[in-house]
Amino acid sequence: MNITVVGTGYVGLVSGACLADSGNDVLCLDLDPAKIDTLNSGGIPIHEPGLDQVVARNVAAGRLRFTTDIDEAVAFGQLQFIAVGTPPDEDGSADLKYVLAAARNIASRMTEHKIIVDKSTVPVGTGDKVHRAVTEVLASRAVNIPFSVVSNPEFLKEGAAVDDFMKPDRIIIGINKGDDTALDALRTLYAPFQRNHDKLVVMDVRSAELTKYAANAMLATRISFMNELALLAEKLGADIEHVRHGIGSDPRIGYDFLYAGCGYGGSCFPKDVKALIHTGQVDAGMDLHVLKAVEHANDLQKHVLVNKVQQVFGTDLTGKHFALWGLAFKPNTDDMREAPSRVIVNALLTAGATITAYDPVAMDEARRALGVLTGLNYAKTAKAALTDADALLIVTEWKEFRSPDFRLMRSALKAKTVFDGRNLYEPRAVRDQGLTYHPIGRAG
Ligand SMILES: NC(=O)c1ccc[n+]([C@@H]2O[C@H](COP(=O)([O-])OP(=O)(O)OC[C@H]3O[C@@H](n4cnc5c(N)ncnc54)[C@H](O)[C@@H]3O)[C@@H](O)[C@H]2O)c1
Repeated sequence: MNITVVGTGYVGLVSGACLADSGNDVLCLDLDPAKIDTLNSGGIPIHEPGLDQVVARNVAAGRLRFTTDIDEAVAFGQLQFIAVGTPPDEDGSADLKYVLAAARNIASRMTEHKIIVDKSTVPVGTGDKVHRAVTEVLASRAVNIPFSVVSNPEFLKEGAAVDDFMKPDRIIIGINKGDDTALDALRTLYAPFQRNHDKLVVMDVRSAELTKYAANAMLATRISFMNELALLAEKLGADIEHVRHGIGSDPRIGYDFLYAGCGYGGSCFPKDVKALIHTGQVDAGMDLHVLKAVEHANDLQKHVLVNKVQQVFGTDLTGKHFALWGLAFKPNTDDMREAPSRVIVNALLTAGATITAYDPVAMDEARRALGVLTGLNYAKTAKAALTDADALLIVTEWKEFRSPDFRLMRSALKAKTVFDGRNLYEPRAVRDQGLTYHPIGRAG
């Protein structure tokens, strides 16, 4: 099949590359010429494990191409996937300007039937808005060309995106009743990704749009729940890790997404929780009490590590220097969007401290996202970041932080203190090395 993917970011690039890998001809469009230049010269603009190989072999096979040319992109695919960003607007709602612009670009150029597939995360009712926008543009051109609008939200996780796309848990298709042409096309397209059993879940467009928000809202809820419980555990002298084991063993609960930490971040959970709260309020006249609490708890949680630092060193951190391990919002990505590290770095600097940060892949992205900040420096290695630091803060659970040289840590850190926002170590093991340990929800 010929497929156009509009938007070549985390979702668009992974989707395009994986769809090409199953034999389709894919043209990825982006309006950012720097991104397309990088891709056309063999580079990958994001860090995503395994993606470079999938892109390289499909480019070499001539099945995957990149362009900034909208005319070419619209002419190419019968299927037009929209995978552009839906960032939060000032009021917390999802900003649909990129989605609607992409839809209008298609409508203003199409000359034959197109299946417009929305992969971006969009509020309930966006399918109708896209339908209206396309109808209006076609009417202004005085042409009558049939088209379909389908919702196909994406569930890949950054850091494991290729694997998630290749082996999806489910493929949600939201489609208007009777649109068999579009449904058949998507069934055929996704057949190679669901060989063990049928993973296609077909529903109406609105339910598909809500399903994506419901999934992210549920996951964010689990995290905020555990984070709040961790704070309670600390006050009551309980250990949140024991509690996690104790409840995770219940199959109705399960172990995933029960790790206490210094808050969730990334390009999805914060904005999707916000957007769903907004949808409730504005489109349904409903307060989503649970989600408001989830968001509030997460905002507080991003400050927990700095609160612990200030309990030890005082609120004025002038003259104190900290090593900070991990900047990306989670491991295996360089994504800095809404990363807890951003809040932590700013709070430490505001309190007068200086920082040397290290992240295995996100330092370039951090420099871009944070800008030049007085008092913030970067180290080439995790060990080098410890030099002259009073204490260490661990913010992202990268694998390489899991078995550190504790002896070196003790000799390097002036106050011999570790604040662990990801609970990487057994408290006793760290204590036995002569370090003072401050994890989340556990006795240090
Ligand atoms: N990142 C994730 O892990 C993830 C997972 C599932 C769903 N999503 C959703 O997928 C959507 C895309 O997210 P992302 O992280 O890939 O975004 P991104 O910011 O990485 O990429 C979006 C790209 O779209 C391009 N773009 C914007 N308008 C365009 C237009 N009219 N034509 C062509 N290109 C255009 C931008 O230049 C950018 O490169 C969002 O709605 C997001 O919520 C993201």
